[in-house]
Amino acid sequence: MTAALASSVTPVLAAERPRDAPLVEGLIASAFGPGRFAKSAERLREGARPFLDLSFLAWIGREAVGCVRQWPVTIGETPALLLGPIAVDDDFRRQGLGSTLVRHAAEAAQRAGHGLIILVGDEPFFGPQGFSAGLARAVRLPGPVDQRRVLVRELISGAAAGLAGPIRRITA
Ligand SMILES: CC(C)(COP(=O)(O)OP(=O)(O)OC[C@H]1O[C@@H](n2cnc3c(N)ncnc32)[C@H](O)[C@@H]1OP(=O)(O)O)[C@@H](O)C(=O)NCCC(=O)NCCS
Repeated sequence: MTAALASSVTPVLAAERPRDAPLVEGLIASAFGPGRFAKSAERLREGARPFLDLSFLAWIGREAVGCVRQWPVTIGETPALLLGPIAVDDDFRRQGLGSTLVRHAAEAAQRAGHGLIILVGDEPFFGPQGFSAGLARAVRLPGPVDQRRVLVRELISGAAAGLAGPIRRITA
C-alpha cells in the first residue's frame, strides 16, 4: 500500500491471537532489523510469553500494519508489565498509529488491574503518553542500557513508589 493511500484509511485494533505471531514477527523484523536480538529488553522476553489480551495488532482489512506487545515481569518484588516491541509499518508512520497502540495497550492493562508499565524506548515518543525516566531511576536491566531510556508509567497512582531492583522476566 502506498503512503498516500495509507493515510486515507483507519486501522482497526484487535487483541493478538496465537496465529498472528508470524505477522507480529514480520512487523518487528522490518521495523528493527537483526540488531533487535542484541537489545537488553530482549533478554526479558526470551522464553517468556506476551499477554495476548494485552497485546494488539492494527489491521487494514487483512493486512497487519502495526503491533504492540506486553509481557509479565517483576521489578524487585513489584509485578509490572513490560511494553514492547512496538512497530508500525513504514507507510503508516507519523499518523498517530504508534501513539494509539500505546494508549490502547495501557488502557487495557489498566482495566485488567495492572499497576505499572515499564519499557525501554524514546522519551520524546513515550513521554507524552505519561512515561517517565524519573520513576525508573532505581530499576536495573539485565545488560547495558541507557538509563534515560528506561521509562515507567503508573496505571495505579503510587504503584511505582519505591520502585527499585532488578527487572526479571516471568517464564512460567
Ligand atoms: C516508533 C513508532 C512505533 C512510532 O509510530 P508512529 O505511528 O509513527 O507514531 P505516531 O505517529 O503516533 O507518533 C507520535 C509522535 O511521536 C513522534 N515520534 C515517532 N517516533 C519517534 C521516535 N522514534 N522518536 C521521537 N519521536 C518520535 C512523532 O513525530 C509524533 O509526534 P508529532 O505528533 O508531534 O508529530 C514507529 O516509528 C516505528 O515502528 N519505529 C520503528 C520501531 C521502533 O523504533 N520502535 C520503538 C520506538 S522506541
